[in-house]
Amino acid sequence: MLVVLLGAPGAGKGTQADILTERNGLTHVSSGDLLRMHRQQKTELGQLAQSYMDRGDLVPDDVVIRMVLDKLSEETDGPGVVLDGFPRTAPQAKALDEALGGSGIDVVLHVKVPEDELVRRLSNRYICRGCSRPYTAESMGKACESCGGELYQREDDMPEAVRNRLQVYANQTYPLIDYYEGKGKLVEVNGLQDVDAVTADVMEALAH
Ligand code: AP5
Ligand code: MG
Repeated sequence: MLVVLLGAPGAGKGTQADILTERNGLTHVSSGDLLRMHRQQKTELGQLAQSYMDRGDLVPDDVVIRMVLDKLSEETDGPGVVLDGFPRTAPQAKALDEALGGSGIDVVLHVKVPEDELVRRLSNRYICRGCSRPYTAESMGKACESCGGELYQREDDMPEAVRNRLQVYANQTYPLIDYYEGKGKLVEVNGLQDVDAVTADVMEALAH
């Protein structure tokens, strides 16, 4: 099974993907987490990605496409994959379709949240340095419940980068909603509900 989570920064893609991993055994493949791992390990790719990410711009398509498709090619065993943060441009969506051949995407979940709530969530978010699990500010100073890692605030959750990320999403990623709607793959999920209610809608969408 291949599930794509599409949604603005702060919509809750990472939160729901972690739950899908726990409940359905899907492998969580997050392009943002992969890029942050490259940065931590100071690889060539991580160094290239750094300035784009800190400004809230997208990392160039060719680099991200190669990174994600390589990762997907390793994930052939198991019940499937939940893709979080990829694709987010038209060339990325086309490259994914070509790489998948006939087997394709099962469902694209568009997690919808209004902009004022996105800004509120991102300014209040802490994530684990070890496993990238997202938390809110109430957990600041505690260790990650999953891996014991330290919680920190992402550089791109600063106000200026958040404003740019929302703009980039509107210009470059939002058009993919029409693309997947046209392919009959899109299901809308109300991301403004509490986490459990969003998960219930996600599970319902996967059951069809
Ligand atoms: P990426 O890491 O993908 O960031 P993003 O898309 O901006 O999304 P976020 O991780 O900020 O939000 P999320 O939807 O995962 O929300 P979360 O679950 O954490 O990308 C980062 C950067 O990497 C990009 O800007 C770009 O530079 C680069 N990049 C990545 N992919 C790329 C690509 N394909 N092409 C090019 N460049 C790429 O939740 C947010 C907060 O809200 C948390 O605190 C959480 O606890 C809370 N929360 C979650 N759900 C709820 C709820 N229902 N109610 C209340 N609070 C909630
Ligand atoms: Mg995320």
